[in-house]
Amino acid sequence: MSNTERTYIMVKPDGVQRGLVGEIIQRFERRGFKMIALKMVWPTTELLEKHYADLKNRPFFPNLIKYMASGPVVAIVLEGRDAVATGRVMLGETDPLKSAPGTIRGDLCLQVGRNICHGSDSVQNAEKEIALWFPEGIVKYTLATENWIF
Ligand code: PPS
Repeated sequence: MSNTERTYIMVKPDGVQRGLVGEIIQRFERRGFKMIALKMVWPTTELLEKHYADLKNRPFFPNLIKYMASGPVVAIVLEGRDAVATGRVMLGETDPLKSAPGTIRGDLCLQVGRNICHGSDSVQNAEKEIALWFPEGIVKYTLATENWIF
């Protein structure tokens, strides 16, 4: 665990359409994570097939790609202590109906195929996803609050 662990968070098309981008970012910022990259992108099928490559044999794969390509997403990189695991806890379970109240999915959505937000499931996958979605690289800066949080 380090203070500079990174995770890839993505507000999915339904989260964007429902106006939940600000709410989702605010939860992570208030928790103490540093946002180090942010952009809106309407992903191509090719990019999504790379992102979800591990799932290509799953029955829901075609619908997942169609859903994710249906509109713009907001791609975010967060940095902070235990960012990957804490990000997943804050998201809740993959199925919103199994997500505890207080989590992003437990508070804001109802079905697995419209679960509003993605978060990396391991540090290794976070590195791959960040490289895939931010090939241009990430700006480096220091927050004045970093010394208070850590
Ligand atoms: S699994 O079964 O453990 O591989 O699934 P999981 O890791 O929980 O989910 C992998 C991603 O697939 C999405 N998913 C689905 N999308 C549409 N329909 C169905 N039924 C479905 N089941 C799982 C799930 O949201 C995960 O995507 P991300 O982007 O990580 O949320």
